[in-house]
Amino acid sequence: TDGYETILVERTGRTALLTLNRPKALNALNLRLMNEVVAATEALDRDPECGCIVLTGSAKAFAAGADIKEMQPQDYPEMYLSDWFAAWDRLGRLRTPTIAAVAGYALGGGCELAMLCDVLLAADTAVFGQPEIKLGVLPGIGGSQRLTRAVGKAKAMEMCLTGRTMDAVEAERAGLVSRVVPADELRAEALAVAGTIAGMSRPVAMMVKEAVNRSFETTLAEGVHFERRLFHAAFALADQKEGMTAFVDKRPPRFTHR
Ligand code: CAA
Repeated sequence: TDGYETILVERTGRTALLTLNRPKALNALNLRLMNEVVAATEALDRDPECGCIVLTGSAKAFAAGADIKEMQPQDYPEMYLSDWFAAWDRLGRLRTPTIAAVAGYALGGGCELAMLCDVLLAADTAVFGQPEIKLGVLPGIGGSQRLTRAVGKAKAMEMCLTGRTMDAVEAERAGLVSRVVPADELRAEALAVAGTIAGMSRPVAMMVKEAVNRSFETTLAEGVHFERRLFHAAFALADQKEGMTAFVDKRPPRFTHR
């Protein structure tokens, strides 16, 4: 409907489901797909009726990496001048909470795309890795940084240096994913989590996302200070009045998302 060729976008209530759709290439992330994901998610981010975005792939592959066939002929001037992959950074700047629902391969750019999302849910079939070194390159969409923050130096170094993969159980144990669910329940579970988030106050969900993300960028004292400022600011919201009044009145809140 939106002229997208490599993704599908569906809306249910206040949640959006974006499915990567290049099955023949195991959802390899070519430039077209990158631009479509960024355009679609930025449009959803501007929509006040959208409270959470789920990104998913197929049963076999969330995404098997950046498109190797597209990169293979490139040279340094082309990569540098076009700022190859730079658009992916915009995904990390969305204000709407995002969920990666990962089944099958999440390799290279696929693992990096999953880590760009706020919540990472894995099917028991999920396989994570940064195998770029086997292609004579290194992670290029933040994997060396985000994997290290997620699982620590020892595991990140080993994975990036050898290209070995992690299964879902190891990924959960290492803190890369929040939960592992049976593959046939992944989509429903991700949409349920998205529905829960989308039912919260939209500005407060944005504040939570900002506050948690700030922890990666700053000192503890500054981060706590930032959180406190946001906490006080929440009292300017209609949703704070509603949320606390509903608790006192022993009824569910009816957030206006303002
Ligand atoms: N780029 C382009 N095409 C890809 C691809 C990729 N990353 N991954 C898979 N494909 C294509 C294959 O070439 C194949 O196409 P053809 O049918 O035209 O030959 C099709 O998808 C199916 O793949 P396979 O036949 O290889 O499927 P398999 O089940 O035998 O193996 C796999 C699955 C182990 C994931 C294997 O496809 C694989 O190793 N893929 C590459 C993984 C990888 O190296 N990812 C990192 C890419 S570099 C990167 O991402 C840089 C960065 O940091 C951003």
